[in-house]
Amino acid sequence: MLQKNQIEKGNLQWKCPSNIALVKYWGKQGKQLPSNASLSFSLTAAHTITSIDYEKKDKTAGISVDFLFEGKKNEAFARRIFNYIQSIKDRIPVLNGMHLRISSRNSFPHSSGIASSASAFGALALALKDIDTILTGKEVYDENFYREASELARLGSGSASRSVYPGFTVWGKHEAIAYSSDQYAVQLNQDYIHRDFVSQKDSILIVSRSEKDVKSTAGHALMQGHTFAQTRFRQAQKNLGELVHALKNGDRGKFIDITENEAMSLHAMMMTSNPSYILLKPESLIIMEKIRSFRKQYAVPVCFTIDAGPNIHVVYPEDFESRVKDFIQSELLVYCDAKQWIDDGMGKGPEKLK
Ligand code: DP6
Repeated sequence: MLQKNQIEKGNLQWKCPSNIALVKYWGKQGKQLPSNASLSFSLTAAHTITSIDYEKKDKTAGISVDFLFEGKKNEAFARRIFNYIQSIKDRIPVLNGMHLRISSRNSFPHSSGIASSASAFGALALALKDIDTILTGKEVYDENFYREASELARLGSGSASRSVYPGFTVWGKHEAIAYSSDQYAVQLNQDYIHRDFVSQKDSILIVSRSEKDVKSTAGHALMQGHTFAQTRFRQAQKNLGELVHALKNGDRGKFIDITENEAMSLHAMMMTSNPSYILLKPESLIIMEKIRSFRKQYAVPVCFTIDAGPNIHVVYPEDFESRVKDFIQSELLVYCDAKQWIDDGMGKGPEKLK
């Protein structure tokens, strides 16, 4: 605990990875709560590093925030972050009267079309939670620390709740995982994961770098009153249960079926919402078909998943890395924007750098 006259100031830095959902979160209710449980694995190459200089000004004053993104002022991001911090300040009372100088940078180009809200809010939530633990004299980075960081991250962006852990994580209550919750994500412990799945690769093929026409938050809102909403939420719950079973039993065939079914269902929801929209590009479809025929022809356990955009995530076990990378280079890169791709895979989770 801090002494009375001790200055409450300092700085810290957190690195947090992005994640790729295999069972998708699509549709929310209440205060950033999911309509169905989702399951993802955390990446490594795609990450955000966030630094915060904090200093207590006046306990009676509000919180003030300066925000730099990649070294430059960014009004739109600064407003979102300020509003977010305002919305969570009651959960971290030590923030009252603080001036926060936040600076953030991504490992991947901002224009790559890769979602950054998961790693961005993951890193920010971890850093804010860390200020709380330091100033309340706890400084213990235990299960509770990460659970509370996950809950804070969720309030910024749902998928961010899953980024604060390494490996496979589940966000949303599901009967297959007794300790799961809608409030925060949990890590799937090692007993749930067969050795064939402990090391997954994700090669992210950048089909288009342009901004999405419909942002995820608007897409979630279109699930309200969607004709297929209830069926979709049930399908996701069922898929998650079966995927957990497949991960435990090393069932690669089932893993592939569910992962691709989820990607297709997500985009089917967009195509059948009112108004409807299409985020996939012709090149996305070609790549999807090519992955399926390559898998069939050579019996390589590779599959695709897709987030809310046109880019294709090629998912496969590490032991098939050179085989799949040869295939990507010789047959798929020609369909990518400027042949761009990100060589990513399952990582070690977030890290405190300072
Ligand atoms: C398709 O987490 O970006 O990537 O909570 O509104 O910030 P907000 O949405 P966001 O939605 C991600 C949707 C998805 C699927 C997933 O990651 O589960």
